[in-house]
Amino acid sequence: MKVKKIAVLTSGGDSPGMNTALRAVVRTCAFYKIECYGVYRGFQGLINDEIKILKTRSVRGIINRGGTMLYSARSNEFREKEGRVKAFENIKKHNIDALVVIGGDGSFNGGLIFQNEFNIPVVGIPGTIDNDLSGTTHTLGYDTALNTVMEAIDKIRDTAISHDRLFFVEVMGRDAGHIALNSGIAIGAQEILIPEENIGLDVLISSLKKSKSSGKTSSIIVVAEGDKTGKNVFELAKSVEKVFPDYEIRVSVLGHMQRGGSPSCFDRVLASRMGVKAVECLMDGEKGVMIGLNNGKINLTPLKAAIKGKSKINSELLRVSMIMNT
Ligand code: F6P
Repeated sequence: MKVKKIAVLTSGGDSPGMNTALRAVVRTCAFYKIECYGVYRGFQGLINDEIKILKTRSVRGIINRGGTMLYSARSNEFREKEGRVKAFENIKKHNIDALVVIGGDGSFNGGLIFQNEFNIPVVGIPGTIDNDLSGTTHTLGYDTALNTVMEAIDKIRDTAISHDRLFFVEVMGRDAGHIALNSGIAIGAQEILIPEENIGLDVLISSLKKSKSSGKTSSIIVVAEGDKTGKNVFELAKSVEKVFPDYEIRVSVLGHMQRGGSPSCFDRVLASRMGVKAVECLMDGEKGVMIGLNNGKINLTPLKAAIKGKSKINSELLRVSMIMNT
């Protein structure tokens, strides 16, 4: 079947590069004379029929803008069959042949269920700062978030050094430690705590003792949101404070500032490549796949594998960070 109308939506947590990918999808559709529809507020917008035609000029001026022009949402209604039936009715109403979902694992899961139930082809573009999908070395927004985190912690370091302080900095990643591990190496963290490793309090304390005895007067510990060493980063800091009562300890939670901002050059180029590929693979009859980047090349992974496989922590990076702590 020739694809004549494609709808595109952004879903889940926003990430820098979503707008750039949207622009690429819209312009690729225009290039191939396919009608493109933007769905506002993710899957909820499909249910509520917030669907508008997007032309080349509709996406001007967004290449460098963070967030998503289409808005995003986590839809509870779409989790229910009743909601998905309503969504499909709107797909039929607009004669839409295929759907591009820009989002993370939850959004892909929803997209896949929708495809299986109603036989509407779905293609995913990985948009999440967490980089927690299998089948791509980079998700959109990850590179930008890393640079944001690095710049923020560089600033915190100024205070850490000036006051001889120990800082615990919590970064995003509820299930994955990619942001923590990479930013931690980039800022020279004393330790990096990630959910995939869970090094434990004892190892952390001996590392701090070692660094103290070597003459280090300030340190930064980068903690991924999902790490389980303490109940949370504040409790963790309290436990460490008991062992080092003379150390001035502070906690800084970077939070949602990591999700915002203008996408980096890397994310803009990747988003453009992924947007083109998403439309072209739907034209080729593909469905149920995620666009990914591997060895510099754009490739496809079944959505199921992308979600289920999760992403593996790079053991070489773990080794580098360990050696840097010597
Ligand atoms: O999935 C991206 C992410 O930024 C996670 O790292 C974080 O745990 C979560 O979103 C926060 O979500 P919300 O904006 O709904 O609080």
